[in-house]
Amino acid sequence: MIFILTGAGISQESGIPTFRDAGGLWEGENVEDVATPRGFARNPDRVLDFYNARRRNLLDPAVAPNAAHQALARLEAAVAARGGEVLLVTQNVDNLHERAGSKNLLHMHGEMLKARCQLCGEVMRWEGDLTRQSVCPSCAGPGRLRPHIVWFEEMPLYMPEIEQALNRCRLFVSVGTSGNVYPAAGFVSLARRAGADTLELNLERSLGASRFRDGRYGKASAIVPAWVDEVLGGQ
Ligand code: OAD
Repeated sequence: MIFILTGAGISQESGIPTFRDAGGLWEGENVEDVATPRGFARNPDRVLDFYNARRRNLLDPAVAPNAAHQALARLEAAVAARGGEVLLVTQNVDNLHERAGSKNLLHMHGEMLKARCQLCGEVMRWEGDLTRQSVCPSCAGPGRLRPHIVWFEEMPLYMPEIEQALNRCRLFVSVGTSGNVYPAAGFVSLARRAGADTLELNLERSLGASRFRDGRYGKASAIVPAWVDEVLGGQ
């Protein structure tokens, strides 16, 4: 089984800014204000506006999967045809992996095009702006919808499935992530301890680069398809 972890770098060439690069989403932004439960309780409008802007950006017709997303979908299909498995775990909240055709996919940090009701717990597709007046279609409670995004201090989604997969993968590949945010930043060590080979594909050496056995550096749209071609033996 091949375990692939992706981060904001894979979507950068699709027109979605990363977090920590120059001009990234966290530049000039206080993370505590817009990406924590406390920030939301203190100033819900500010947090809703921050994610409304990001949702609108994702829905811009110019934003589309790039060659790296497409290569990972191609890898999954080809490996599945041979009876193997590729699991894609993404920290990204965009929908570019699914639009490229990836199926075995877990969004560990939530999804931009979904909202969650804090009253009844229902998770639903949501493509418009979210406001304090938005009404939950499931329980009809007003003012209790929030972005379906995992904030700092909250537990990422699908952790039991992810831990199980890290224990049984033979290859762990990280694509376009800076290695700043745990638990994702620690996955490489868990996979390695379980006996997996490890590879980093990123624009530059990440914070955790020394934990990987191998690394290839450059733009995702170039290095990811090249690596996939290599794995599939030119298939
Ligand atoms: P970061 O912004 O921290 O890191 C993006 C990484 O992608 C950096 O190492 C860049 O060098 C690299 N990169 C940029 N452009 C690239 C390109 N064209 N091709 C390949 N690599 C490129 O983003 P993440 O590591 O994804 O969490 O951030 C992790 C989490 O921190 C996010 O999921 C988000 C954030 O706070 C939440 O919102 C919960």
